[in-house]
Amino acid sequence: MSILPRAHAKGINLRPRLHKGLEGKPFSSLIETTIRSFKRADLNSIEKIEQRSFTDPWSSSDFESFHQRDGVRFFVAVRNTHIVGYIIVEVLEATDLLNLRIIKRGHLLNLAVDPKYRRQSVGKTLVNASLRSLLKERVQEIWLEVRASNWVAKRFYLTMGFREAGRKYQYYVNEDALIMKREL
Ligand SMILES: CC(C)(COP(=O)(O)OP(=O)(O)OC[C@H]1O[C@@H](n2cnc3c(N)ncnc32)[C@H](O)[C@@H]1OP(=O)(O)O)[C@@H](O)C(=O)NCCC(=O)NCCS
Repeated sequence: MSILPRAHAKGINLRPRLHKGLEGKPFSSLIETTIRSFKRADLNSIEKIEQRSFTDPWSSSDFESFHQRDGVRFFVAVRNTHIVGYIIVEVLEATDLLNLRIIKRGHLLNLAVDPKYRRQSVGKTLVNASLRSLLKERVQEIWLEVRASNWVAKRFYLTMGFREAGRKYQYYVNEDALIMKREL
């Protein structure tokens, strides 16, 4: 199955209107976010977040196919028993042409946080947890594509230590993808 080009993010400029707590963060951001592996029972919640996040969302069968694919790591973020976000990363073997050896490389396929829980470090917690898990598997680098117009995601990835590493022309319908990469 081919990798579906990532959808266009919806409502990316919105910040939740919440009362502010310590250090200017919303009170709800003080609730602990737990990261665990995906279970089939999470599918309904994930579909809702996907539909609220992208204009051309993946279907539940897309999520199931990726979950069953070799090398795919699928994590969800949980707050107070609610699924509030998810991340899907595929681990592949690649040739490091500079040093002529095979390395393990991660490809971030999908990441979204429920709009109600954005700017509360859920995305950061999901990325950090998956990077820790990839490091244990000796993955050396991770890369992703993001719509050139999705400045929120681009800014988010820059704060997470990714850098721009190229562009895929017309990767999406009528739009280029920026390639972003981070060493582990
Ligand atoms: C991108 C996305 C996953 C970020 O998730 P999040 O939980 O809101 O991000 P975090 O709260 O962990 O943000 C971490 C840092 O990223 C940056 N950032 C995140 N959202 C931002 C925004 N709207 N504006 C400016 N900077 C932002 C900030 O530096 C933030 O730190 P701060 O809140 O302390 O300033 C979320 O906006 C989302 O689901 N977007 C729609 C789907 C999408 O575009 N996915 C990526 C496809 S490639």
